[in-house]
Amino acid sequence: MAGNPLNDGLRIEPTPGNATLVIFGASGDLTRRKLLPALYRLSRGHRLPARFSAIGIARTNMDDEGFRKQFRDSLREFAGVEPGDDIARSLAAHLYYLSGELDDPAVYQRLTARLQEIDGADGVLFYLAIPPSVYGTVIRQLGAAGLGGRTSEGWRRIIVEKPFGTDLTTARALNAEVHRHFEEEQVFRIDHFLGKETVQNLLVFRFANGMFEPIWNRRYIDHVQITGAETVGVERRAAYYEGAGALRDMVQNHLMQLMTLVAMEPPIAFTAESVRDRKIDVLLSAQPLVNNGRPNVVRAQYAAGWVAGSEVPGYCREPGVNGSSTTETYVALRMQLDSWRWAGVPFYLRTGKRLPKRTTEIAIQFKQPPLQVFKAASPSSVSPNLLVINVQPDEGISLRFEAKVPATRMQLAPVMMNFRYGTAFGGPVPEAYETLLLDAMLGDPTLFARHDFVEASWTLITPVHEAWRAEAAAALPQYEAGEWGPKEADAPMAADGRRWRTL
Ligand SMILES: NC(=O)c1ccc[n+]([C@@H]2O[C@H](COP(=O)([O-])OP(=O)(O)OC[C@H]3O[C@@H](n4cnc5c(N)ncnc54)[C@H](OP(=O)(O)O)[C@@H]3O)[C@@H](O)[C@H]2O)c1
Repeated sequence: MAGNPLNDGLRIEPTPGNATLVIFGASGDLTRRKLLPALYRLSRGHRLPARFSAIGIARTNMDDEGFRKQFRDSLREFAGVEPGDDIARSLAAHLYYLSGELDDPAVYQRLTARLQEIDGADGVLFYLAIPPSVYGTVIRQLGAAGLGGRTSEGWRRIIVEKPFGTDLTTARALNAEVHRHFEEEQVFRIDHFLGKETVQNLLVFRFANGMFEPIWNRRYIDHVQITGAETVGVERRAAYYEGAGALRDMVQNHLMQLMTLVAMEPPIAFTAESVRDRKIDVLLSAQPLVNNGRPNVVRAQYAAGWVAGSEVPGYCREPGVNGSSTTETYVALRMQLDSWRWAGVPFYLRTGKRLPKRTTEIAIQFKQPPLQVFKAASPSSVSPNLLVINVQPDEGISLRFEAKVPATRMQLAPVMMNFRYGTAFGGPVPEAYETLLLDAMLGDPTLFARHDFVEASWTLITPVHEAWRAEAAAALPQYEAGEWGPKEADAPMAADGRRWRTL
């Protein structure tokens, strides 16, 4: 395939067999912002199947041409691409649209007919880009129309967006509903963090380099801090966020996924089941987050303040938010893993909205050397070695170590050794949704959440929500927008003799 750098020399990248993508929620934000631009980029990179079509479905009245216009508008708005090129034209010609109510069986008959008309596909990938309240409806209707399950006519797979349930009970019910109509190997539960290059690179970093694995344990690592910081507030998502909060929105899925990738044992091979087996072990080893009815999770809500030079309102003054809302926009917690490798090594997780900087990072802090040899010459304290994995926005890995300050007798100062994805390899880093759409079409679920992971994660999180509900209505701690969260989040760290990193 000339012109495709991924297929040069020995680096042959697989291309999926011919496929049709069916997007439920085709008129929505996710489709416009992420999915349509991802399809364009995949096509530009020669990664789409030789014969590829997409059928969009939603209630909005639109025809094929209307959906194609929406595709072109999406490229302009969200991909910074003028959609007049051959790639956009040829992809647009393979986009189709069906409008209708998602609980109407006639929609699924029309879909079946459309799929038959689009000849030559080896398989069909359904994508639920719809509100979670209608996941069950679509799954049932697909089953009733004979579009679920395995078939001799080719593969069928389904991508389910986040959130996957709102607690353990609803997650179990959703898993049961999906499994009534699809086998687990057909189900791809998305967590877009897993599609990020640096997150995948974490596995390569750990298991393709001999250097770090021997020290990746309780003997050498003091603790791990995982931060998911956003500068944005609730924006237009109040209706969803009011019922979710930071613990559900960020911790149950994204931060838990990051933690398991840091903490997992080496898989016996890079196969979906082996990797996911080792990840679930981590969650199963985690101590409960609630002890004697008390949740070990600090929660808080942002008050008015300043972010990036602009004055912003407090959470309760945001459009669509209840003026006396107790939804948390910040959480900080300590995970303790009862495993041979990690006993006694805390994993501190924090996430919040309206923090000073947008960044997601994993910081692994190593123990100090056993003896402070330079103490006399360099009385200032020696910074511990730190390995920082930047998940976003500047994907990369940095290592902090001590160095001698030039022209001093023996003054020490910390320095960084940096690897940046953007500069190290040249070329654009693919967006998470490109990677995940491609993997689903290839039938590789490694970067998707398995049913037991989702349930194990809710098993840890749900008791916290239950304990919060049972708590007397104490005032929720506040933090000023633009600050690094509430002071209450510092106390548990201080009690351990540690502090949050200043980012
Ligand atoms: N937007 C993002 O960046 C993002 C990121 C992560 C996860 N997600 C997840 O992706 C899913 C879709 O999110 P979104 O932001 O695209 O939502 P959205 O903008 O509200 O779009 C929802 C889509 O579902 C359709 N729909 C069909 N039946 C519906 C019903 N009964 N009620 C409401 N909408 C219905 C809507 O179109 P019609 O009104 O035309 O039917 C629309 O196409 C959600 O599960 C969300 O949590 C989104």
